[in-house]
Amino acid sequence: PQRPYVIDEMISAKQIAARIEELASEIRAEYSDTDKLVVVGLLRGSFVFIADLVRELDLPVEVDFLEASSYGNATESSREVRILKDLRGEIEGRDVLVVEDIVDTGYTLKHVRHLLSGRAPRKLKIIALLDKPARREVDIKADWIGFSIPDEFVVGYGIDFAQRNRNLPYIGKVRFTE
Ligand code: PRP
Ligand code: MN
Ligand code: MG
Repeated sequence: PQRPYVIDEMISAKQIAARIEELASEIRAEYSDTDKLVVVGLLRGSFVFIADLVRELDLPVEVDFLEASSYGNATESSREVRILKDLRGEIEGRDVLVVEDIVDTGYTLKHVRHLLSGRAPRKLKIIALLDKPARREVDIKADWIGFSIPDEFVVGYGIDFAQRNRNLPYIGKVRFTE
């Protein structure tokens, strides 16, 4: 039994695509000297963003995934990050770009950054499509942010509400109607 809600568009597919083009050119400049970039998507939320981002990069990249979960089906962070699937490849000495959909409390990225930096990558950077700075509980900053947003409950473009709505092509906000 789910409270009824509607989704109001907040960031259109077009706006997202335009911002990804800008971010991709900054990333291309940052990594122009490397032939070793590993792009790491945090499942599940980043699967749409990473797919669009890597296709704009025009760099030799490897793609790997790490599955991290802290919300499950809840709307509140458990503040405990579980690693459900580790990277397939080694990252020691590599240039690593972590791709995340949204930074909320910051627990997920803080945990992942600590985990991956312990594996001695040459360079470790983070890109997040969305940032909700008002909700931050731990100190973590992405190196690139797509959009900074107010404290709204957002879905779409990979982001779920109780595992639904990941397939929306835009970012929307959830509005409960009852
Ligand atoms: C969501 C989201 C981020 C994280 C952000 O993941 O995709 O990974 O929460 O929240 P935080 O900054 O408070 O940690 P979730 O745990 O829902 O898993 P999912 O990506 O599989 O949906
Ligand atoms: Mn996630
Ligand atoms: Mg989720």
